Amino acid sequence: MTIAFPQGFTWGTATASYQVEGAIHEDGRTPSIWDTFCAKPGTISDGSSGEFACDQYHRYRDDIALMKQLGIGAYRFSVAWSRIVPQFGGPVNQTGIDYYLRLLDALREAGIKPVVTLYHWDLPQYLEDRGGWADRDTALRFADYAGALARAFGDRVDTWTTLNEPWCTAYLGYGSGVHAPGIKDFGKALRAVHHLNLAHGLGARAVRAELGDAANVSVTLNLATNVADTDSPADLAAKHRADLIANEVFLGPMLDGHYDPEIFDVTSDVTDWSFVRDGDETIICQPLNSLGVNYYSSSRVRHAKPGAVAEGACMPAQDIVETLPPTGELTAMGWNQDPRVLHDMLCALSKRYPELDILITENGSAWDDTVSADPAEPNGKIIHDPKRVHYLEEHVRAVADAIAGGARVTGYYAWSLLDNFEWALGYSKRFGIIGVDYATQERIWKDSGKRFARIVRDNAI
Ligand code: NOJ
Repeated sequence: MTIAFPQGFTWGTATASYQVEGAIHEDGRTPSIWDTFCAKPGTISDGSSGEFACDQYHRYRDDIALMKQLGIGAYRFSVAWSRIVPQFGGPVNQTGIDYYLRLLDALREAGIKPVVTLYHWDLPQYLEDRGGWADRDTALRFADYAGALARAFGDRVDTWTTLNEPWCTAYLGYGSGVHAPGIKDFGKALRAVHHLNLAHGLGARAVRAELGDAANVSVTLNLATNVADTDSPADLAAKHRADLIANEVFLGPMLDGHYDPEIFDVTSDVTDWSFVRDGDETIICQPLNSLGVNYYSSSRVRHAKPGAVAEGACMPAQDIVETLPPTGELTAMGWNQDPRVLHDMLCALSKRYPELDILITENGSAWDDTVSADPAEPNGKIIHDPKRVHYLEEHVRAVADAIAGGARVTGYYAWSLLDNFEWALGYSKRFGIIGVDYATQERIWKDSGKRFARIVRDNAI
């Protein structure tokens, strides 16, 4: 059965600066926390870094040509903060700005709307040296940076996304330490949560101070989709607690104007939240034109048996929550495939925030790909990736169902345009709907890219 998407629905692909740009030493860019983290032995599973990545810094025109072949209407990418402000308190680096102006202009020429993420995890190292996201000043510096970008890019940008997945920055960067800067301190993770929220609010304000109230501002969250293992009060309470710390801690201040006081209770053994100052919640709650959600998989949680504290836990106060092993066919990331939960989440969000447009700013899957010969392709190569095609189809169908059920979803961005640097897993995991041969930087079409192009062309699944 074919299901059509509403007219004007936006199809796009997404990437992030450190994952695709490379060129880390060029045009005045200074190190980010990911350069530092990758240089530490044992942090990245294949010992790699984003030094070259997909070399999009030099190949953006070729990549835009691929986007045109995909037929997409929007490209979501992020800006590397340390290209724009290379030194603490220093001036804006025009050479860094110029790269993004070239990219923005080339996208416009191709008829592709730029959706710009201001922060996708590559904090300038000089800010981490001053305390990073555990320090309030980083949020103020973010506001300056956001204002500088708004001044420089102006109306070339279609959507301004303040942050990508602050959950990961806070809990993986400062809680479990598996992401840069590699700190393991739950107290700092919660400070980071608040300062990221504050950065979001101040950043949104700074963009609108430059461009006017009509500027299109968004934020992208990876809302945890926890499913309680049973309907027992204990399992439901465990799910509720996990949701508070993973989701409500961002949704509350950003969209409802305050933290749910229960969050303070369940984390009181870690922090007293005295870093939240009067007026902060008002700053954080800025009007949003849309909410971006990234969705990959779901997790089943239950009330933990005594002593079952998860090894490598990334969130505080999780001692009563146990995450069960995923089931069904798992992707190369070891994640489950659960499109129904995507549908349910979209419907629930639209019920809670009926006025808000929702964008799926990332969705996709990693699989171990192999390259086959195909004389019909210009480079004689193709990647047959039936599992990625299946995942794509099922999830796009779930989005279509959600829209039919009343969810206000206005766009879908496939993660990712290209295979790229998958953070602590280096280049070992491939999420692209177009493949990359990292030895030559050759781009290789996958069946999933072709399937996506058909979905985009038909505006239907
Ligand atoms: C979400 C992150 O935003 C992105 O950077 C990452 O590569 C994907 N998840 C896949 O793990």
